[in-house]
Amino acid sequence: MKYYEMHDEVYKGLRQRGMVTWDGQVDVESIYEHHINLELNKNISKYFPKAKGKSALDLGTGSGTAALFLARKGFSATGYDISSEAIQLANENALKLDVQANFQVQDICEYSGNNKFDLVVDSSFLHCIVHNEERSHIYSAIRNILKSEGYLFIHTMIAAQDMSDLLSKEHILLEKDILWSTGKDSWDMEWKVVDGKRVFPHRRILSQVDLEEELSAHQFKVVDKVVKLNERGPSTYIAWLRVNHE
Ligand SMILES: C[S@@+](CC[C@H](N)C(=O)[O-])C[C@H]1O[C@@H](n2cnc3c(N)ncnc32)[C@H](O)[C@@H]1O
Repeated sequence: MKYYEMHDEVYKGLRQRGMVTWDGQVDVESIYEHHINLELNKNISKYFPKAKGKSALDLGTGSGTAALFLARKGFSATGYDISSEAIQLANENALKLDVQANFQVQDICEYSGNNKFDLVVDSSFLHCIVHNEERSHIYSAIRNILKSEGYLFIHTMIAAQDMSDLLSKEHILLEKDILWSTGKDSWDMEWKVVDGKRVFPHRRILSQVDLEEELSAHQFKVVDKVVKLNERGPSTYIAWLRVNHE
């Protein structure tokens, strides 16, 4: 099992409890007001004055959150997620909202498709990818599928001065940008023991400088960005980017 496949268990639990998103929302209409969609909405008409005829891909779509919002805006929307439970939930949400979107189970770390998109959205997916080789693969896959005039939107965690709220019984250690967390013994993870607890590499939380260096090294240039500060926790880096073709 790869470390992120545990998300299947999360979505199974959410579905059983009648929840429609990763954040535990229960009203399906509230998906349109999800905090990622509110951020997307701030600039989307600047970059896409007309959504009709444009295609969008939501990476790590989960319950379909950004894909459903984009579909309602008029995009031809696709959502990929590694979790089949998530994709089931996304399809259920689409049905309830009476919106058309194409959802597929897909490990983005292995993705090699050639479909082209006008907009690619990282909806809190990138910080789930811990290792540099996998992150590099994802950036090159995005460069490959993004149309030359297309945009990448990212919504991801970055390090803050005070991260004390993040460290809890479950999230034990933040070491070299990696958040190490506890999990079920049965999971097949890259375990190590810290203070007598078994932990696995769970999230990658880069500093803003390191994230921007990474993006630039992978030929992405930021055209618009905002950093949302959270008290005693990771900040959120929200940006619109283009591929640097120079
Ligand atoms: C923090 S959740 C965000 C879900 C959704 N975008 C939202 O905002 O509600 C991250 C999502 O990324 C998915 N994910 C993690 N690694 C993945 C991978 N390698 N390929 C595809 N999806 C992945 C998880 O299954 C999970 O649904």
